Formats: sequence, structure tokens, C-alpha cells
Amino acid sequence: MKLKNKVALITGASRGIGKTTALLFAQEGAKVIINYKSSKEKAEALAKKIGKMALAVQADVSQEKDVERLIKEAVDRFEKIDILINNAGEIIRPGDWRGNEKTWQKTVDINLTSIWLMIRQVAPIMQKQNGGNIVNLTSTVGILGVAPVLAYSAAKGGVISLTKAFAKELAPSIRVNAVAPSNVKTDMTRGAGQELIDRFKRITPLQRIAEPEELAKAILFLASEDSSYVTGHVLVVDGGYSLK
Ligand SMILES: NC(=O)c1ccc[n+]([C@@H]2O[C@H](COP(=O)([O-])OP(=O)(O)OC[C@H]3O[C@@H](n4cnc5c(N)ncnc54)[C@H](OP(=O)(O)O)[C@@H]3O)[C@@H](O)[C@H]2O)c1
Repeated sequence: MKLKNKVALITGASRGIGKTTALLFAQEGAKVIINYKSSKEKAEALAKKIGKMALAVQADVSQEKDVERLIKEAVDRFEKIDILINNAGEIIRPGDWRGNEKTWQKTVDINLTSIWLMIRQVAPIMQKQNGGNIVNLTSTVGILGVAPVLAYSAAKGGVISLTKAFAKELAPSIRVNAVAPSNVKTDMTRGAGQELIDRFKRITPLQRIAEPEELAKAILFLASEDSSYVTGHVLVVDGGYSLK
């Protein structure tokens, strides 16, 4: 088992990539904190399925007070945090440059500020423990810049520089990396509509969208000792979508 006796806090783990990662991490021996914003039933059902190795905690990770409470509940229950997966994210439409300031701000808050808030509070705990591991979810749109989701692209681009800056700042005891998916079979992609999904498949060299398990495995690689000499890296998991 790759994560035996580790404690992993995963934000946005009630659905999609976060949920699949929580299941994989539990199989690999980790205790998991399943954070969610609104999907209480889904998060609690997942925690029940995993058993006493899991704890579901409601918190809006774009809010500092919620982040404080989330981390306190995690440490009260499991006494430490070895791994932090900053996975929570949302596309808020309209996301192009004509959208209003409220939409812009909300998009940046949930996709970027949340990660800054989480790392600021979790890193000191990891430093006291003499080590830790952080993986942030960015997106290929954060590399490419995609106009219809301009605010989301900008926030995810920010996640990439935040990852690199924190990797330098928190070394050598804490590694910080990112995973960049393109299109994954989750509610987020379903929200784009079937027509767009079909188009994604046509323009992706591997000619399909990813299964959440394919992302969970990449996250596990970065969160485990398999990547012990990797920090500040953005692992693109996109079926070749961003190749030019
Ligand atoms: N799916 C893709 O194709 C794709 C592509 C590139 C990048 N990504 C990134 O990968 C990550 C996971 O995406 P996904 O497709 O798995 O998303 P998803 O299926 O839509 O699930 C989003 C998760 O984030 C949680 N969440 C949203 N806002 C939150 C907040 N303010 N505080 C706490 N939790 C919050 C949701 O909780 P509730 O259930 O309680 O609402 C849910 O668990 C995101 O960062 C996303 O931007 C996804």
C-alpha cells in the first residue's frame, strides 16, 4: 500500500475526481477527510462506504473561517495532515470577459484563493510534522487560456504559478505539485453539454474524455513516494488535448 498510515485531506471530495481520489487513497491505506460544500448526503455516503478511516466535513474552502474549522476538525480526529489535495473547483458561467465582476470574483475565490487559504493553514502543520505533500488541481485551460471560460482559465493559470512558488517556498520538507486535466467524466464536464463533449473527443488525440480514475492515479503518483524527487511540477493528464 502506497499511503499506509497517512492522513489525506481532499477538498471537494463528494463527487467527481475528488471522490474517486478519496476511494483510491483509502484503498492505499490512507485515512481521508472528505470535504464538501453542499452535497452532504453524497459525502456522508462515501465516508460510510470507506468506514472509520474517513471523515466527511462540510466547509466552503473559499471562506477563511470555514477553512480554519475544516483543518481543526481534521486534526482533532486524525491528529495530523500528511497530504493535502486541493481539488475543489467550479466553472461559473458566463465565464467570458463580458461576465460581471461578481462572477469573476467568485470564480477566482473558489478556484485560486481557496488553495492559498488551505496551504497557508496546512503548511505550518506539515512543517511541524517535518514533512508533507500537496497536490493542486489546475486545468489545461490554465495553460492554454480559453476565452469562453476566461475567468476560470485565469484562476487555473494562477494555480500553476502558486504551485511553483509554494514548491520553492516549502522545500525541502513539503513537495507541492499540480495535476492538469482537460476533460473528465464528471458533473463539471456534463455541464458543458453533449455537443461540446463530442467536440472534445474529436479534437483529443486519444479520442475520448478521461475517466476520473485516470486522474486519481496521477494524483496518487504525486502524493506518494513514487514521485519523491518531483516538486513544482504540473502533470498534464489530457489525452494529448493540449498538444500542438
Ligand atoms: N472535470 C473536468 O473535466 C476537469 C478538467 C480540468 C480541471 N478540473 C478540475 O478538477 C477539480 C475537480 O473537478 P470535478 O470535475 O471532479 O468537479 P465536480 O464533479 O463538479 O465536483 C466538484 C467538487 O468540488 C466541490 N466544491 C465546489 N465548490 C466548493 C467549495 N467552495 N468548497 C468546498 N468544496 C467545493 C463540490 O462539492 P459539492 O458536491 O458539495 O458541491 C464537489 O465535491 C476541479 O478543481 C476542476 O476545476 C476538472
